[in-house]
Amino acid sequence: MPEAIPESLQQKIEERLRYYQDLGIRLFYRDRVGQESSSAENWPAAVEDMSSSIAQQLTPAPAKINVTTPSRTEAAERAMPVITPPGASLFDEMDKVKDDTLPKILEDIGECTRCKLHKGRNKLVFGDGSGKARLVFVGEGPGADEDAQGLPFVGRAGKLLTQMIEAMGLQRKDVYICNVVKCRPPENRTPEPDEVQTCSPFLLRQIDVINPKVIVCLGAVAAKTLLQTNRGVSQYRGEWQEWRGRRLIATYHPAYLLRNPNAKGEVWRDLQKVMAELRLQPRKKS
Ligand code: URA
Repeated sequence: MPEAIPESLQQKIEERLRYYQDLGIRLFYRDRVGQESSSAENWPAAVEDMSSSIAQQLTPAPAKINVTTPSRTEAAERAMPVITPPGASLFDEMDKVKDDTLPKILEDIGECTRCKLHKGRNKLVFGDGSGKARLVFVGEGPGADEDAQGLPFVGRAGKLLTQMIEAMGLQRKDVYICNVVKCRPPENRTPEPDEVQTCSPFLLRQIDVINPKVIVCLGAVAAKTLLQTNRGVSQYRGEWQEWRGRRLIATYHPAYLLRNPNAKGEVWRDLQKVMAELRLQPRKKS
């Protein structure tokens, strides 16, 4: 007989599960004994693992935990479509800037003080990569390393993202990487709605100028912002969305993968869809 869980602990677990559910996380995986560490260096190994069907067959099925009490957000989400219909988007209200360019957007941002995030900023993180990229990755907001260097995704999560890009047969300079907010939120907290609303028109302009074929949203903040939805990202992760005449796919944030390496396989499958769309060949094994 398994030992009964004390009621106070049970309540805490339920609360925690509801919290994850609100974040859109519904699947939990048990750690495997001897599982590889969560360091970025393990991405290629994970990729090779996951691209081998034998490895896939050997991967134990995820332990699914059903939370029976629907959260307030979930109840509200059920009532709304995944994607706001065309025309209802916040961004359709945005005036198109004529002959827009990336330098013009950067100049318009200037020494930005439009939202409270500027107060803790060291360097504004505009974006990095090719202004003609066919593929744009959108993250959440700069962390400490990005704030120090003024470049997106250069910390631990960034190293993992770089490995993911290279596993796709590309290099960082071939794609464009940016974030929903351009200044670091204090203690790396999630950007608040007013900060997202203030900053995201610049992101929209960046995407319009680059005009990529595919956009990959890394995590819930990017997905919810671009798709203008409150639905948890796990509900449409890995599914193609039509977005302002382009193809958009949402996947898990690399920081999430650092904490949950078992989810790398799901992300790799999402990225394989992107590779098929862009006719990319995976990097050859050396
Ligand atoms: N996480 C993000 O979302 N963006 C970065 O630039 C770095 C970490």
